[in-house]
Amino acid sequence: MSKLSTLILLGAAAIATTGCKTLPPPMPLSQLNPQQAHGHDLFQARCAACHYDRKDDSLHGPSMLGVFKKPSLPSGAAATDERVTATILHGRGLMPALGNTLDPQDTDDILAYLHTL
Ligand code: HEC
Repeated sequence: MSKLSTLILLGAAAIATTGCKTLPPPMPLSQLNPQQAHGHDLFQARCAACHYDRKDDSLHGPSMLGVFKKPSLPSGAAATDERVTATILHGRGLMPALGNTLDPQDTDDILAYLHTL
């Protein structure tokens, strides 16, 4: 085998083994600030029935693990505060709109928590 093809294979192996697993881990719950901790409580009450937060597996909807660390949301839309806020307020596909039941501060707190994942 030529040196070049060995290098290409090594590169491909490195990409395959690191791949999506290079995301830094979520911030430990014990280190959350008060806003993030309130967001965590709200997440448990309002989102956890359909989304895992600290486990990379889908439930009724996609996992929120690393949601703001990845370049795009599961739908392919940019992973921005605006887009996630709009999803929470207006819903998406099978996800219900939650805007009538969360005040803007609650939505901000959930976002702050999602940023720790
Ligand atoms: C009743 C179940 C349900 C609840 C409750 C729910 N979701 Fe979802 N969510 C879904 C489903 C299903 C999808 C996939 C929608 C699609 O892309 O068709 C989704 C998608 C998403 C997405 C990805 C949007 C995209 O563009 O890919 C985000 C972010 C999200 N939800 C956040 C939340 C947050 C935060 C909460 C709590 C405030 C929440 N969801 C509550 C079911 C739910």
